[in-house]
Amino acid sequence: MRKIAFVNEKGGTCKTTLAVNVSAFLALEKRLRVLLVDMDPQGQVGKALGIDVRDCGRTVHDLLSDPKLRPTDVIQPSRISGLDLIISNKALIDFPVTVAREVAPERKLQQKFDGLEGYDYLIFDSPPSLGLTTINILLAVDEIIIPVALTYFALDGCCEIVETINSVSESFERPDLRVSMVIPTFYRNTRLADEILEKLKEHFGGKLARTVIRYNVRIDEAQSHGLTIWEYDPASAGAEMLREVSQEVLRNAKKGSR
Ligand SMILES: Nc1ncnc2c1ncn2[C@@H]1O[C@H](COP(=O)(O)OP(=O)(O)OP(=O)(O)O)[C@@H](O)[C@H]1O
Ligand SMILES: [Mg+2]
Repeated sequence: MRKIAFVNEKGGTCKTTLAVNVSAFLALEKRLRVLLVDMDPQGQVGKALGIDVRDCGRTVHDLLSDPKLRPTDVIQPSRISGLDLIISNKALIDFPVTVAREVAPERKLQQKFDGLEGYDYLIFDSPPSLGLTTINILLAVDEIIIPVALTYFALDGCCEIVETINSVSESFERPDLRVSMVIPTFYRNTRLADEILEKLKEHFGGKLARTVIRYNVRIDEAQSHGLTIWEYDPASAGAEMLREVSQEVLRNAKKGSR
């Protein structure tokens, strides 16, 4: 099972959009079994899929705060065949406080998913912060994908995440933990965006995705309707970019790149 997290401490870099649409692509187009877990109290995975997250049964917070619960107790099917979900909502805000005094609070999520079977992909969406929740996510996965919005502070954010990943990798003896891809998002045809892209290329080399996600209003509209791009407008330029990037995620697995 491939375990991937979409991570960036910066807000609004396309994490949720990619987590939802890549997951749905793998399930719909490739017939793979995917479990998508929302680790953001904003609950936007559910919202992007048209689910009322205030009233949706058990959430990831229930899973993490009740020692008796296993993932299978909180998983719900989505309307997309092959795509299962663990939803989040505001309750998850309490997670860092709830677990802070427990033994190994950083490994709560990893422990819950150890031994999970029946999926080809386990995908996590992350909150825009670098606290205990994000450390839990980093320790629960093997691969990290960083979506980077091409704005002036993008590189700052990237360096901070890479530092955090390196320090988690050292402190928790996870030398295999790696950034597998950096995906440029919100590209505009400006000199600044091109310069930032060039710097990302210097810094991340082959890990930089070939696909650059441009602004495309159909992507935003799809989410406002609670639909994936594959359901809302599969022929749009937005769908084309998300399809290409999903294929890249898939190809990365085949390469087994380290
Ligand atoms: N390529 C795009 N073109 C137009 N709008 C987009 C595109 N990608 C994402 N959006 C929209 O931008 C907003 C932010 O995207 P998204 O929620 O995926 O970011 P995020 O990194 O998950 O944010 P947060 O850090 O708050 O969780 C959403 O409203 C989404 O619909
Ligand atoms: Mg998000």
